[in-house]
Amino acid sequence: MILEEVAAGGCRSYVIGCEETSVGAVIDPEVSRIDRYRGLASQLGLAIRYSIDTHTHADHFSAAHEIAEALGAQVVMNRLSVTPRIDLHVDDGDTLLVGNLRLTAMHTPGHTRDSTCFHTDGHVFTGDTLLIGGTGRTDLPTGDPDMLYDSLFGKLLKLDGETRVHPGHNYKGVPATTLAEEIAGNPRLQKRERAEFVAMMRALDIQAPTHLTEALRVNMSGRKAVSQLLAEAASVVPFMSMAELSRRLAARANDFVVLDVRERDAYDAGHLPGARWLARGQLELRVNEVFPDPTVRILCYCEFGKVSTLAAATLRELGFMRACALDGGMKAWREAGYEVEQG
Ligand SMILES: [Fe+2]
Repeated sequence: MILEEVAAGGCRSYVIGCEETSVGAVIDPEVSRIDRYRGLASQLGLAIRYSIDTHTHADHFSAAHEIAEALGAQVVMNRLSVTPRIDLHVDDGDTLLVGNLRLTAMHTPGHTRDSTCFHTDGHVFTGDTLLIGGTGRTDLPTGDPDMLYDSLFGKLLKLDGETRVHPGHNYKGVPATTLAEEIAGNPRLQKRERAEFVAMMRALDIQAPTHLTEALRVNMSGRKAVSQLLAEAASVVPFMSMAELSRRLAARANDFVVLDVRERDAYDAGHLPGARWLARGQLELRVNEVFPDPTVRILCYCEFGKVSTLAAATLRELGFMRACALDGGMKAWREAGYEVEQG
């Protein structure tokens, strides 16, 4: 069996494959590592058939759909998962054929209602049901410590003790263990009575993950994170550096318009020399009246450089094919000591 672990901060994902048939699967892909999975698949010569999420993640952005689309794979999740972008819903006990590998789904609710472990040939991919030296938390939406108790002690820990554990998180980069080692040493698994286990889980006071609501929204709906939206806009917009703009302003170049897309009070408090104003919120509705000539070169800027990227992308979409954005924003411009105009 081919097995490669991919780290993204504390998150762990896996590329697995069958050596004889060159068929593979990706487990819990994360959006910042898309190129890594693609690179691994091509380096290992694997045709990725399945893109699997062990559960609806609350702490990172799933790339299951993107991987499936890029590599022609099927998105696999539990039948209780709610995102609309699932090609194959699995039930407890269903087996996927990854070439000659048999990858079996084990429904293990507790961390989330749709949590599922996948096991094959002495390996189990536990998602956040069981971590090395820990378990997933049960205080996030659809989590339930009673269910986690049943999933662990009634199911997962009954697999062969020699089975190697590959979790969805490994915050300290500790080496992989076996189920037997976890049963012996994992502090959470020492509470073997249901009431004790549930009380321990309820008493844990863990910080909410960053991006909690956004990650849930994106992973449940299959739509976009704000960072993706910005990255997409940035990929269709050219940028002008602050130094270049400063040179052009000093040379009194009059072949382009500098456009402030912030709110009016921000513009009035100080703007780029000669800048015109049209707030991002009014852009689509007022652009025809403000810029009757679609061939004009428009340089958008805002406070931090993000809204201006969206504005420039919108202008390009509307046919202003020379729209660009400042690489930076008013804040960086001010801090760099460039000239600011008032009123
Ligand atoms: Fe999770």
